[in-house]
Amino acid sequence: MQIPLLDLKAQYAKIKDEVLAAVSEVLESQRCIGGPKVEELEKKIAEISDCKYAVGTSSGTDAILNALMSLEIGEGDEVITTPFTFFSTVGCIARVGAKPVFVDIDPRTYNIDSMKVADAVTEKTKAIMPVHLYGQMADMEPIMEVAKKHNIAVIEDAAQSITSTYKGRKAGSIGTAGCFSFFPSKNLGGIGDGGMIVTNDEKLYERAFIMRNHGSKPKYYHKFIGGNFRLDPIQAAALLVKLPYLDGWSEARRKNAAYYNKKFEGTVVQVPYINPDCVTIYNQYVIRVPRRDEVVAHLKENNIGCEIYYPVPMHLQKCFAYLGCREGDFGEAEKAAKEVMALPVYPELTDEMKDCVVETLLSFLG
Ligand SMILES: Cc1ncc(COP(=O)(O)O)c(C=O)c1O
Repeated sequence: MQIPLLDLKAQYAKIKDEVLAAVSEVLESQRCIGGPKVEELEKKIAEISDCKYAVGTSSGTDAILNALMSLEIGEGDEVITTPFTFFSTVGCIARVGAKPVFVDIDPRTYNIDSMKVADAVTEKTKAIMPVHLYGQMADMEPIMEVAKKHNIAVIEDAAQSITSTYKGRKAGSIGTAGCFSFFPSKNLGGIGDGGMIVTNDEKLYERAFIMRNHGSKPKYYHKFIGGNFRLDPIQAAALLVKLPYLDGWSEARRKNAAYYNKKFEGTVVQVPYINPDCVTIYNQYVIRVPRRDEVVAHLKENNIGCEIYYPVPMHLQKCFAYLGCREGDFGEAEKAAKEVMALPVYPELTDEMKDCVVETLLSFLG
């Protein structure tokens, strides 16, 4: 049996006619930049995120970059974040000229250890950027307390966690801004790249809106230097088709995760820990296993898709060597990088497929 890590063809088969009609509508209109589809998507994403404002962007990366630029974070500033994330989080901090300051992770959730954030604050700290990894939000309350005390911004990297909640509050709605990615593998994925910033801060919204179009307002008058961070209307059209399915897809992922959890009970497989304050959307179902690299190789040999998110923590990446971090500095992130692996959890998986994943894995580990 072939079981990919994610089967976008299975999803597309069910919504193909709707997607083609929506894309065709954009093409017929020839509104190829901005326009009603982008505006409608912004309105709807703001709504489902319990936020007043949203700004569509060309990617999740550009959402983060735009948020940092709009908050005027740059040279001489520090931004506290996690070393256990996708490159984009830390890459954007460095690209605006700020210094990424790492705080180790909570080994249960893999999110930033919120209890250690206060110790990392200096007079240069301008923002905290927690990442809601794998679909589960970081422990936001202690983070917001630190931010309030020191009057610093919080940018939620919610790229993997649209609609997930913490104490009943939506991802992106707790901090100063939240950033989503519509990369095709996300729960709400486009047919290419896309992203969005959500916020309740009117000033930030206005700046981010202008920033995504080279800081231009009115046209050809530039108060500050922005970029081309615009969301493509063809992506917006496809995302609007997919949006009504999002909750159902996330629920199906939760059911698949519960199925796996039960099958792994009493085995050496450490299943995901979900904070009782959180509802996760399981963008990834991530386990810890002994002999991880051998297990990954075995599953791949047996045509089962799996992936390591992420094999090298950010403080040990070559491009961040200038920060002067060493092996051992963030032990939990380093340990997780050696032990975690993601299994297929996409909505269209059948019980037979999940059984095959479990049996192939357990028969190898003995
Ligand atoms: C945690 C995290 N941050 C940022 C991004 C960047 O998003 P994008 O790939 O849309 O630029 C991603 C997704 O790829 C991500 O997983």
